[in-house]
Amino acid sequence: MHPLSHRITRLLHTSTSFAFSALRPSISTQLPHITHRFRNSAIHLHTANMSSMAARLKGKTILITGASSGIGKSTALEFAKTQPEDLKLILTARRIDTLKEIATEIGKQAPGVKVLPVKLDVSVPEEVSAFVGGLPQEFREVDVLVNNAGLVKGMAQAPDINPADISVMFATNVTGLINMTQAILPIFKTRADGGRGDIINIGSIAGREPYQGGSIYCATKAAVRSFTDALRRELIATRIRIIEIDPGQVETEFSVVRFGGDKAKADKVYEGVEPLTPDDIAEVVVFAAGRRENVVLADTLVFPNHQAAATVMHRKSA
Ligand SMILES: NC(=O)c1ccc[n+]([C@@H]2O[C@H](COP(=O)([O-])OP(=O)(O)OC[C@H]3O[C@@H](n4cnc5c(N)ncnc54)[C@H](OP(=O)(O)O)[C@@H]3O)[C@@H](O)[C@H]2O)c1
Repeated sequence: MHPLSHRITRLLHTSTSFAFSALRPSISTQLPHITHRFRNSAIHLHTANMSSMAARLKGKTILITGASSGIGKSTALEFAKTQPEDLKLILTARRIDTLKEIATEIGKQAPGVKVLPVKLDVSVPEEVSAFVGGLPQEFREVDVLVNNAGLVKGMAQAPDINPADISVMFATNVTGLINMTQAILPIFKTRADGGRGDIINIGSIAGREPYQGGSIYCATKAAVRSFTDALRRELIATRIRIIEIDPGQVETEFSVVRFGGDKAKADKVYEGVEPLTPDDIAEVVVFAAGRRENVVLADTLVFPNHQAAATVMHRKSA
């Protein structure tokens, strides 16, 4: 065997199809006579990998909070794209009209996906406790809960933080997430081996590293982190997977909400940098849910290339 062929064969066995596709161009230039065979193998590997992810998600019911915008919306579309033939999506948020538009969009692209848009304010405990009972029978067997709904308000520092902002951030990011988790866990716990299902919590770099002007938001995300870590320990004797994904800077409606609808102020946050897109995070969420059942992507921090910490960014001058 040609020594390079041997190396390529080893690579095919050990690397993911993604890594291999990055190597392919240089291999193509060096060894035109063997590339065709290996390119076919690479395509086969890629297809096999994709279809195993789709197979693992087949027939599942996925519940996403905050699905009307940003990361939540992208996550809904990414699940539908990955398993377009047999999937159920429950999309929740306060803006029901937007959810219905997303449901229509998914219906056109992935007719095998059943979408249920539900108006739900996670910061209202009564709405959360009535939620599961209100689901149609065919959507009740939830397999994956993506706790994504969340928000930040303002940049004020103590002692000038608006009490209403403190309340809404804690009620949404912390109590809302905990109440959703408590509403869905009993469904998971009826299953074999102590229980099965995935809880995917969207935390933030802010939960790992507090910054000035973000004390309340950072405190809420630190609370999410503690709750998530405790939950993973509490459920150790089950097959329930507890997953946290912590994004760095992502361009969504997040900053517009932070600055009370002031788009110009929000745009300034992203000046000179290249933030993540909500699709970048959605891919990680779907990847986590699409792993083999024994694999738990417990804790993931995702930065754009220019970011190294909550407040450490490289900004290009204009
Ligand atoms: N963007 C970032 O840089 C960044 C970084 C790290 C972490 N995160 C986290 O990522 C998650 C998603 O944020 P995003 O960036 O995608 O922002 P976004 O575009 O503003 O989306 C936030 C979503 O949460 C929903 N939401 C807000 N309050 C809610 C409530 N009380 N009940 C139900 N849904 C509610 C919103 O829907 P409605 O308004 O229709 O209710 C919307 O769908 C949040 O948990 C956020 O903290 C964001």
